[in-house]
Amino acid sequence: MEEIIQQLEKEVKELFHTESSGHDIYHLKRVLNNALTIQEKEGGNRLIIAVSAFLHDIHRIIQKESGKFCSPRDSLPKVKKILDKTSLAEEQKWKVLHCIEFHEEYDFSDNGKTVNDIETLILQDADNLDAIWAIGIGRTFSFGGANGLNMWIPEKSFDRSTFDESEKDPSTIHHFYSKLLKLKENMNTKTAKKMVVERHKFMELFLQEFFDEWNGKK
Ligand SMILES: [Fe+2]
Ligand SMILES: [Fe+2]
Repeated sequence: MEEIIQQLEKEVKELFHTESSGHDIYHLKRVLNNALTIQEKEGGNRLIIAVSAFLHDIHRIIQKESGKFCSPRDSLPKVKKILDKTSLAEEQKWKVLHCIEFHEEYDFSDNGKTVNDIETLILQDADNLDAIWAIGIGRTFSFGGANGLNMWIPEKSFDRSTFDESEKDPSTIHHFYSKLLKLKENMNTKTAKKMVVERHKFMELFLQEFFDEWNGKK
């Protein structure tokens, strides 16, 4: 497994070298680590999970280059080309493509979750764990800045009842409410449900501090 990840690292480094909005190679490495930690407790195919974690966000690069919304499904031809350079069997490659295609499903979006295989569920959890806690908060502001969002616009209402990744939030703080605070209930595995508790509390504390400062209560 280490050999394949090393081989992929070269490809991914090249692809992600200009990415600075929160989906950089360090995000991929953290998701890989989260995924392996969860896999140790929950089972599933470790190699499929590791490879999927490392290649899961190539659509973000395609989106950045094209300037148009891009879903994980749109990245599959590019991912397949990379996988074809490895020694993985065809069946393993298709499994990786499946995990990547469905890793951005949320209970709180219109379509909900459609998959129930352990590898995809672990990838979803691992990716979502990196969206919260200190680094997740940092990534959220980085992403907002890179996409031209204000930090916070109090006059704009929170009118998004369901989540759609292709829709922009009015400000970065709005994103906490449309997505990040909902991730706690969205975790799939027992292990991630435990890991998310402290992260979620930290995010609530951060928001409390943010609004106290904003409103001059500090
Ligand atoms: Fe993703
Ligand atoms: Fe990701």
